[in-house]
Amino acid sequence: MEKGLAQLLGQKPAMEVGGLSRNGEKRMKRKDILEKKKAVDEAMKAASSVKDPLVSFSPFCHYDTIGLSVHLKSGRGDKLSSPIKQYIQNLLKVNMEGSYGSEWPAEEKVKRREMVAPEARYIFVHSFPDSGTNEMTALLGTGKTSDTITGARATIVGFVQYRFTIEEDLPVVYVYELQLEPSVQGKGLGRFLMQLIELIACKNSMGAVVLTVQKANFSAMNFYVGKLRYTIASISPSRVNPLIGVDSSYEILCKAFSDEAKAKLEMKKDKEEEDGRKKQRRRESEKLSLIVQGH
Ligand SMILES: CC(C)(COP(=O)(O)OP(=O)(O)OC[C@H]1O[C@@H](n2cnc3c(N)ncnc32)[C@H](O)[C@@H]1OP(=O)(O)O)[C@@H](O)C(=O)NCCC(=O)NCCS
Repeated sequence: MEKGLAQLLGQKPAMEVGGLSRNGEKRMKRKDILEKKKAVDEAMKAASSVKDPLVSFSPFCHYDTIGLSVHLKSGRGDKLSSPIKQYIQNLLKVNMEGSYGSEWPAEEKVKRREMVAPEARYIFVHSFPDSGTNEMTALLGTGKTSDTITGARATIVGFVQYRFTIEEDLPVVYVYELQLEPSVQGKGLGRFLMQLIELIACKNSMGAVVLTVQKANFSAMNFYVGKLRYTIASISPSRVNPLIGVDSSYEILCKAFSDEAKAKLEMKKDKEEEDGRKKQRRRESEKLSLIVQGH
């Protein structure tokens, strides 16, 4: 109802805030929320429809260092061959059984399901025979492939498994696995792959890269937090509820790119701490005024 007409009829006009009635403000908020949701859905749809995210990054599909020359290729969970599935399971066991301890048998089952999900995206690291990989590769060696580019017999020496997904209403890249064979660890490949994942995230309008790390996996923690500057996300158990979260066996880490993602995934704790500090200051000044008033 028009403001003038409402007044003519003797009705109180709806409260105005900054030129907008309360209803108008609610409508605007709803519109904002719907628009944001639409943008998130569109980003997810666009990212999911990209057949091969590596195509935009062809210069990054090779990594050469002393004693190591690898080539990267994309894959999908629902398109894995049986030998590749077996290879992934073997490498996961070699690398992860220790840090999961008694939780491993249950976790292994979860990982087997995640491995073949249609949303699971892969970057496989293919190494060429003379590039310094050792007998561990032969042990895990069901990852042998024929390289379509060079025609050479290449061997997979590691992989990244990731998904385009939504966390805290934001489109993100969630890294489910980053696994390198022991023979290719410590040669800069892990850092290189994570940088590539960050590029893929930005290129596909994702707000952040998110991942989970076992607290017992000290070297991975040091790699992500100490070297790659990932931070403990506001959705990590230790930050959601510090009292219970402290007993959790894992942390969720993130690196956010947009301001909104930083606010939602990185900053919450700062805000919580600031709110706590404000409450504390208020309590102290209340106490002080009671003392001054002689109570
Ligand atoms: C964790 C992992 C992905 C790191 O990849 P990587 O190729 O070995 O690491 P990089 O060579 O790129 O190292 C990058 C930096 O991290 C440091 N780093 C890597 N692994 C480390 C370790 N085990 N201990 C201490 N520092 C380590 C390196 O010294 C390097 O620092 P610098 O650049 O200052 O020299 C790899 O070691 C791996 O696959 N580990 C087993 C599986 C695993 O734990 N995955 C993570 C699960 S969430």
